[in-house]
Amino acid sequence: MDILKNGYPAPDTSYQDMADFYTTYFENELEKYISGLNKDSYEYKVLSEASAYSLSAGGKRIRPMLAYEFCRVCGGNITDATPAALAIEMIHTFSLIHDDLPCMDDDDMRRGKPSCHKAYGEAIALLAGDALTIKAFGVLASSGLEPSRVKAMIDILSDCSYKMTGGQVLDISGDITDTQLLLKMYSYKTSQLIIAASLMGCTAAGADSDKKSSAYDYAYSLGLAFQIIDDILDVTSDKETLGKPVGSDEKQNKNTTVTLVGLENAKKLAEEYTEKAMVSLESFSENEFLKALTNKLLGRKK
Ligand code: IPE
Ligand code: IPE
Ligand code: MG
Ligand code: MG
Ligand code: MG
Repeated sequence: MDILKNGYPAPDTSYQDMADFYTTYFENELEKYISGLNKDSYEYKVLSEASAYSLSAGGKRIRPMLAYEFCRVCGGNITDATPAALAIEMIHTFSLIHDDLPCMDDDDMRRGKPSCHKAYGEAIALLAGDALTIKAFGVLASSGLEPSRVKAMIDILSDCSYKMTGGQVLDISGDITDTQLLLKMYSYKTSQLIIAASLMGCTAAGADSDKKSSAYDYAYSLGLAFQIIDDILDVTSDKETLGKPVGSDEKQNKNTTVTLVGLENAKKLAEEYTEKAMVSLESFSENEFLKALTNKLLGRKK
């Protein structure tokens, strides 16, 4: 593959080659980060092991991919997007560890392996989530990027992560009785980290506010489509394919798009939000990869 500009593959690289490139690139950066963690004393060894267990478990890495790709389409260098890619995957992984705890969704499998609390116990899982959150901001702070961009990224990550947490509060409140409220909750619990990934990618490249605004709109809609598909897979898929339990929402008596509007209408809703996301991508030239990714996520099986 030709590496052309700013460390990225040539713009005409196929979707699959580009996706493979990003995955390999990110896994390598993550490996470097994990191997650099302090394991010299008991407490840091436990924290780094439990964090690495969940981080390395093989998620789809959608958020890092968005951070890298928004940096590319805004003219940035790939190395400048790595702190954002690492930080968002760390926050996302913390959100999954806590989401699986018995006091939340009580799910015993994640990313094809026993959930963090099944492997390390509840207390260590909780603390690993703490460690990932705290360190995510450390990754940004020590990135060596231009200070104004670092500050902007810290603001974005803090704001979006807080909203994600608020979304989780709404999710367990039992108060979600209509579709409007449900989608508002999804725009918090799921869209926000997708927004953070996209906006931090733009910021790493020094993008202007118009570009950031389009990236925000895109990620907002993509997040809704992404969570609706997650609802659908929870009732139509199986544990082996998903790498996490199915029937989790029903077990917790949660309303989802499937329970509120039915499976077929949920699919239509996911299509509508995917289409909305596509429209926002028109603000970016070289948007072929993002368009293909957005479409693939609509048809994803895991
Ligand atoms: C799962 O996110 C949580 C939701 C927001 C639905 P992903 O489906 O991106 O999980 P991984 O990272 O691939 O494990
Ligand atoms: C998770 O929503 C959202 C966050 C972790 C913030 P879900 O509870 O539906 O995610 P899964 O299905 O467990 O991955
Ligand atoms: Mg949940
Ligand atoms: Mg869950
Ligand atoms: Mg789910």
